[in-house]
Amino acid sequence: MAELLKGQRALVTGGGSGIGRATCKLMAAEGAQVAVVDLSEDAARAVAEEISAMGYCCDVTDYPALQSCVSQAAEAMGGLSILFNNAGSSAICRVHDWPQHEWDRIVKLNLSAVFYGIKAAAPLMLKGKGGAIVNTSSISGVRPAAGEAPYAAAKAGVAALTCVAALEYGPSIRVNSVSPGMVRTAMTEPMFETFPGIEADLATRAALKRIGEPEDIAAAVVFLCSDMARFITGQNLVVDGGLTLHGSAVDGALDRLEILLQDTIQAPPAAPR
Ligand SMILES: NC(=O)c1ccc[n+]([C@@H]2O[C@H](COP(=O)([O-])OP(=O)(O)OC[C@H]3O[C@@H](n4cnc5c(N)ncnc54)[C@H](O)[C@@H]3O)[C@@H](O)[C@H]2O)c1
Repeated sequence: MAELLKGQRALVTGGGSGIGRATCKLMAAEGAQVAVVDLSEDAARAVAEEISAMGYCCDVTDYPALQSCVSQAAEAMGGLSILFNNAGSSAICRVHDWPQHEWDRIVKLNLSAVFYGIKAAAPLMLKGKGGAIVNTSSISGVRPAAGEAPYAAAKAGVAALTCVAALEYGPSIRVNSVSPGMVRTAMTEPMFETFPGIEADLATRAALKRIGEPEDIAAAVVFLCSDMARFITGQNLVVDGGLTLHGSAVDGALDRLEILLQDTIQAPPAAPR
């Protein structure tokens, strides 16, 4: 393995699973010290143990907690030069059916927490030699599908926030985002289980004829954090195997879910005669 991140000090949110976990592992393999941050203490600790790193339990939607976690991690590592704002999740529902609190929760997790991460980390990075920030956006922000309102809006917001931060922090800090396509993780597993056949369908539609693995996204993140990407900032890199060349990834998911729910609700009870 080359040492693309030799001497770097990185913090990864949502590092306990999926894309975050794969990125922590690749960053460590490429020579970086890594702070693994996750809502799940067990997950953060397990990944930290795998790579002999420090694990931190923190809710990224709680700004004071995140600020304290970022400061602690930077102190323990002797500085901070890479931030991967990656924690996130979603659900599917029709626009007017989203409960307001769910809208607020999803936007806070996928967009506000990215702002919180930059707010907490940028001053520390500027105190050092600068560095690189990568934020996780999504193809849902680039090519939204029905059913994804708060998630798609938040992820599109992440791409815009990335541009603003790139303008403000250059030349010291480069700021980019990645937009993963459909990747096999704990977040997407329920969809594959609910709709058998969807994986094969997605793979057929993707130019590269498969869905993504967490390592596919980790490779792009490490590239963006490395000196190989030294002239790249303010960009949103779509990493989807060519899936959105045809349209959005979860087109039809809302319709399928509503049909499924209707069938469940409308299944006629055994009528007493
Ligand atoms: N999997 C995909 O197909 C896909 C596609 C596009 C974008 N994404 C994005 O990639 C990122 C990672 O998703 P993943 O697929 O690896 O999912 P995942 O569920 O495997 O991992 C997400 C991690 O984030 C953590 N997390 C959730 N809420 C948190 C909080 N409030 N504070 C701290 N940690 C929290 C979870 O505990 C989990 O470990 C997310 O931002 C997601 O929106 C995923």
